[in-house]
Amino acid sequence: MQNQGTDSPSREATFSVRNLTMADAASALVVLLDVAPLIPIRNLSPEAVAALRAAIEGPFCNPYSVIATAQNGDVAGFQFAKLAEDFESPGEPPCIKLVYTGVAAPYRCKGVFRCLVKTIMQHRLPLFAEVLPDNQSNMATILPRLGFVAGTHLIGPVFWWRP
Ligand SMILES: CC(C)(COP(=O)(O)OP(=O)(O)OC[C@H]1O[C@@H](n2cnc3c(N)ncnc32)[C@H](O)[C@@H]1OP(=O)(O)O)[C@@H](O)C(=O)NCCC(=O)NCCS
Repeated sequence: MQNQGTDSPSREATFSVRNLTMADAASALVVLLDVAPLIPIRNLSPEAVAALRAAIEGPFCNPYSVIATAQNGDVAGFQFAKLAEDFESPGEPPCIKLVYTGVAAPYRCKGVFRCLVKTIMQHRLPLFAEVLPDNQSNMATILPRLGFVAGTHLIGPVFWWRP
C-alpha cells in the first residue's frame, strides 16, 4: 500500500508513504524516541526502549503500519497500527487500532500524518485511536479534522473512523 505526497494542493508532495518493514525499525525508533515526551511515553529506560524496538519489529510490523519517507530517505513519520482481533465481536468487521504515531519535527504540519492515516483508511476497515489525556500534540483536535469522532471502546474513550 503506497501513497504519494499530500492530498492538499497547497502543500508540496515531498514525501511518500509505504508499509513499514523490519528494515525501518531502527530509523522509526529514532523518531519515536524523539516524539515520546509529546505522546507522552515517559519510561525510556533501556529495557523500555528495547521493548519498543521489539514491538516495532514484532506486532507493529504488519500490513497496517505505515511509514513516510522524505525524498532524501529520512523517515519523516510513522503510524504503527495493528488489527484489533482481541476486540472483535461476532459478526462485526475487524477494526484497526492506531497505536503510536510520530512525525519528525522538520516534517510537521506538512500533511504527513494526514497522508499516513489516509493510507490506512484504504483498507476500508474501522479505525480507532486512544488519545492520552496529557497528549501534547492536540490529537483530540487533530483526529476530528481527519473524520474521526469521539466514542467509546472496551478500553475506554477513543476516537473512531468508519468507512
Ligand atoms: C500529532 C502529529 C502526528 C501531527 O503530524 P503532522 O504531520 O504535523 O500533521 P498534519 O500536517 O498531517 O496535520 C493534520 C491536521 O492536523 C492539524 N494539526 C497538526 N498539528 C496540530 C497541532 N499541534 N494542533 C492542532 N492542529 C494540528 C493540521 O492543521 C491539519 O489539519 P488540516 O489538514 O485540516 O489543515 C505530530 O505533531 C507529532 O508527531 N506529534 C508528536 C507525537 C504525538 O503526539 N503522537 C500522537 C499520540 S500517539
